[in-house]
Amino acid sequence: MPRLPKLPAPPLPAALQAPPPRPGEGNGKAGPLEQGKQAGITVVDWVDERTSLSGAGRWLLFRKVPKGTNWFYTLGSATMFAFLSQAVTGVFLAMYYRPDPAGGAYESIRHVTNEVFLGQFVRGMHKWGSSVMVILIFLHMGRTFFFGAYKYPRELNWVIGVVLLILTMVMSFTGYLLPFDQRAYWATIVGVNINGTGPLVGPYLSDFLRGGGEFGATTLSRFYAIHMLLIPGLLAALIGFHLYLVAKLGTTAPPWSKAKERPELLEAEV
Ligand code: HEM
Repeated sequence: MPRLPKLPAPPLPAALQAPPPRPGEGNGKAGPLEQGKQAGITVVDWVDERTSLSGAGRWLLFRKVPKGTNWFYTLGSATMFAFLSQAVTGVFLAMYYRPDPAGGAYESIRHVTNEVFLGQFVRGMHKWGSSVMVILIFLHMGRTFFFGAYKYPRELNWVIGVVLLILTMVMSFTGYLLPFDQRAYWATIVGVNINGTGPLVGPYLSDFLRGGGEFGATTLSRFYAIHMLLIPGLLAALIGFHLYLVAKLGTTAPPWSKAKERPELLEAEV
């Protein structure tokens, strides 16, 4: 197995290289823009002196990227943006939603859609955003597959990606029930039954999802808890780890880029 070469740390961008003038120094004619910039730097310095977080920030942000990096490499960040948008719109929907199977759930969604200011817009963003996230995650997975990014040393990131894909699917499945209309109810019955046909764990899984042998009042609260607490928490934690590995290992070069232009990489091919 070839060992990865140690590449030199990327240089600090020019804007951050010169130390800022000390208070009272300079020509004393700094405009509001310059003063604003200095104030920002002072605040960052103040926090950094107490936390030493700038090292971690530099490690994360100022990285070299392979030659030939293109728009396909933005699909992971686009998926992350879709997730963040779902999280923000979801928080607003949760302010009005009631997981009450006796009509309260349906009524709360009707209220958000028809009466709350911008409610229909936020609900629409959340609903369509879920499809956008699913499409983007598949495109991102396709990109990493066709660029061979699942190979050594990124296998673990691929495996985490597969878990992220499953969790995203569970989000779509559990979110579908929440409006508690006819379509949500019957689609979920079909979905839970399909889960029940899985080998060995299938029947246990469908019992777990229903909260018992029959679809009942607990089913909605269960789906609500899974959709609002369990999976978003797992997704956030795993996305964090996924990004840590991307920052640590760097991204793969496109398969058509030539390693000959990087002698230090050739050396690694033992
Ligand atoms: C919530 C879902 C996901 C988010 C937010 C996410 C985010 C990202 C980001 C921001 C990157 C770096 C930039 C890029 O290559 O696009 C990345 C890289 C990567 N992702 Fe994901 N990802 C997700 C799901 C997946 C899935 C489903 C897979 C595969 C099964 C996957 C496998 C990978 C791999 C192997 C890399 C490394 C790419 C390389 O080295 O070139 N990710 N991910």
